[in-house]
Amino acid sequence: MKNYEFKLELPVKFIPHTFENSAKYHEIPLEHQFINQEFKDFLTSLNLYIDYAKHFYAVPNQKYMNHRDILDDQYDTITDNVKLNFVLGGTGSEMIWYELKPGIDLKFGKNYWGRLVPVYTDEDVVEVHRATIGWPSLLNAYAIHSLQNTNEPRQCWSITLNNLLTNKRLIWDDAIEIFKDYLIIK
Ligand SMILES: [Fe+2]
Repeated sequence: MKNYEFKLELPVKFIPHTFENSAKYHEIPLEHQFINQEFKDFLTSLNLYIDYAKHFYAVPNQKYMNHRDILDDQYDTITDNVKLNFVLGGTGSEMIWYELKPGIDLKFGKNYWGRLVPVYTDEDVVEVHRATIGWPSLLNAYAIHSLQNTNEPRQCWSITLNNLLTNKRLIWDDAIEIFKDYLIIK
């Protein structure tokens, strides 16, 4: 079983809300009201709901820092972080996952919003997986990851899922089970 990402084929459409994109990177909230109801109903049928969603706009050739999607004050409450990402553009861009080399301490850096998240230099980590991201893909964003964009802009609608039954962030193993009928296994 893969530990980092799966492409999915879902039985409902996700209708992407349009954002005004500039020449700069952005990472902005995607309000729930701009997500189509049919898609939200589908998530409900899987006992899932959207905790929060964002739109990421990456400029050509952008490389994201190596990081994990967890804020410094969430260590007690979040032990996993599964996302459903829909990507347009950035053809051939890849998300890259890493493992930490032994003996490297937890370090924090500021994300786009100035919040602290774990960040690591290329020397701190070893690459373990890379993949293009689909429409959509299920991602393990708790593992250390980055993104290398290609020479065209890349848009990503990213949905962070919670489990309706536990009210907790969806964990990777549960996500694989919940989406098992929709995984594209290669
Ligand atoms: Fe991330």
